Amino acid sequence: MRGQPSGHGTAADVREPTGDMVVVEDLRRTYGGGDTAVHALRGVSFTVPRGELVALRGRSGSGKTTVLNLIGGLDSPDGGRITVDGTDLAGLGEDGLLALRRDRIGFVFQSFGLIPVLTAAENIGVPLRLRKVPVREREARVDLLLSLVGLSDHADQRPGELSGGQQQRVAVARALANNPALIIADEPTGQLDADTGLTVMNLLRAVVRSESVTALVATHDTQLLALADRVLELRDGRIVEDA
Ligand SMILES: Nc1ncnc2c1ncn2[C@@H]1O[C@H](COP(=O)(O)OP(=O)(O)OP(=O)(O)O)[C@@H](O)[C@H]1O
Ligand SMILES: [Mg+2]
Repeated sequence: MRGQPSGHGTAADVREPTGDMVVVEDLRRTYGGGDTAVHALRGVSFTVPRGELVALRGRSGSGKTTVLNLIGGLDSPDGGRITVDGTDLAGLGEDGLLALRRDRIGFVFQSFGLIPVLTAAENIGVPLRLRKVPVREREARVDLLLSLVGLSDHADQRPGELSGGQQQRVAVARALANNPALIIADEPTGQLDADTGLTVMNLLRAVVRSESVTALVATHDTQLLALADRVLELRDGRIVEDA
């Protein structure tokens, strides 16, 4: 969907076409202080090249969600540097971070995060409403996204009337609504059975190939790791493998 006229020409869409999508250098994050301090990240460095699907694996508590939250501008590091799509996050205030999250990053969470009273189509349209995209354009884009995730026949169903895999496909479509440069997904298949999880991961894989999106996905699932272009492993707040 990037590459179509509607995806270009706005200020938010001017991006540095070269270099890595994400650059993380010596990232540190400590929760709390004193004797009970938890050193969640102890100097994490890695890059996510443009157009790749990168998986972040590691045991529970290894720091995956912490890394994703920092890259997504949902939390601030205690040390180190993060660059997303050419922008150094340290230079952004709250408004800048908000704009980054709204315009350049799409989030997918384990718990789907859909709004229960809205239909699938309306959920997908939420980011477009927030950006005040005209209604005709919004509806056209929602239709396109519904078909991309294979849910055109389920547009008017609410999350409670959809299966877990269908709900997560709605969440993926919503994450793509604003043509993000980067998709951040935290255990997107954690609540799904193996086959359904594979369907959702294949969808992310296809989206990264066809929409020139970059994705960073935290997952435990070895079957899903095989779909990644590269796998980073976190252990006790450090990267131990970059394969
Ligand atoms: N808000 C918080 N306050 C205190 N400690 C925290 C907080 N969030 C995370 N931690 C701690 O930081 C460490 C890393 O947590 P994180 O959530 O990043 O791990 P994770 O790899 O995502 O784990 P999981 O696979 O279970 O989701 C853990 O020891 C966790 O207990
Ligand atoms: Mg986590």
